[in-house]
Amino acid sequence: MPSSVMPTTTGAGGRTLPAAVSATGLRKSYGDKTVLDGIDLYIPAGSIFALLGPNGAGKTTTVRILSTLIDPDGGRAQVAGHDIATDPQAVRAAIGVTGQFSAVDGLLTGEENMLLMADLHHLPGREGRRVAAGLLERFGLAEAARKPAAAYSGGMRRRLDIAMTLVGGPRIIFLDEPTTGLDPRSRHTMWQIVRELVAGGVTVLLTTQYLEEADQLADRIAVLNDGRIAAEGTPEELKRLVPGGHIRLRFSDPSAYRSAASALRGADLPHGASRKGDAPADEALTLRIPSDGTQRELRSILDWLDSAGIEADELTVHTPDLDDVFFALTGGTDQSRKAVR
Ligand SMILES: Nc1ncnc2c1ncn2[C@@H]1O[C@H](COP(=O)(O)OP(=O)(O)OP(=O)(O)O)[C@@H](O)[C@H]1O
Ligand SMILES: [Mg+2]
Repeated sequence: MPSSVMPTTTGAGGRTLPAAVSATGLRKSYGDKTVLDGIDLYIPAGSIFALLGPNGAGKTTTVRILSTLIDPDGGRAQVAGHDIATDPQAVRAAIGVTGQFSAVDGLLTGEENMLLMADLHHLPGREGRRVAAGLLERFGLAEAARKPAAAYSGGMRRRLDIAMTLVGGPRIIFLDEPTTGLDPRSRHTMWQIVRELVAGGVTVLLTTQYLEEADQLADRIAVLNDGRIAAEGTPEELKRLVPGGHIRLRFSDPSAYRSAASALRGADLPHGASRKGDAPADEALTLRIPSDGTQRELRSILDWLDSAGIEADELTVHTPDLDDVFFALTGGTDQSRKAVR
């Protein structure tokens, strides 16, 4: 699909990139449980968009609506320029979906699974075999192609799953938790695959529980919570929402910890560390001093520690990461909840 026929947004942000996916006010309930309570999405063509949220937040529900597997109760969405309600066939022709639970048939070999997909896409026999062989090679599955998929490892199965999604050459791909359960090496392989797809002009909407994954891959992230999008932006924009930066001091001697805690209460430190009363921490004998992590501030805090005669056993600098954002927005600790209010 040429990008010129995709809708462009006229939204308040003044964004003019063509949208691969756009949605407004998507709603879905099951019985009296509201799962999606008015979701807006805007995913520019050729980008990676991560939908992040805790278990049950509605990530899979969103993917199923956008891929026309279920109907929303309200709202509208366009995918690849086609309305999901009035033109679901055209949407289906433009997308590939890798579900949260594998579509691989374990009784069939990797190759047979691929050829089945080629049949579903009505590829002529020879073309189907060519596409299947090419994808099996690309995903490092050529050697295992003749083995039943039931004998594959989790990572191989997931790669086969995605290879099957690509048989029809979709321009937009939905990946529902593509790396859940994979070991770090397989996860990195999967990230590389996703990056290559996007380099080829494909748009990827992925859901994930892994903040690091969203941070590594996504151009933009939406955090889904309680049926709504709690925050949306680039990873950097989201991190700026949460003042999670701090310096952590760990003590092994309880009396050194106590005297440091009381000195900190009376101290005049940047970011109002003493006023925030962040000092009295926990049984782990750890103190947290809010900090923006700059060299200047770090130096002034170290100077103060020296002058107050405080010597911690361990000092670590913690800059806000997506973990902080996630916990703050999805109801994590009381402390992080307060931080965004
Ligand atoms: N067919 C259904 N019937 C009833 N309730 C459903 C149905 N599908 C989903 N739900 C409910 O909707 C909510 C959202 O489910 P969904 O699968 O979208 O969450 P998710 O964000 O993908 O979670 P996870 O991280 O566990 O995959 C859950 O409370 C779930 O129980
Ligand atoms: Mg899910």
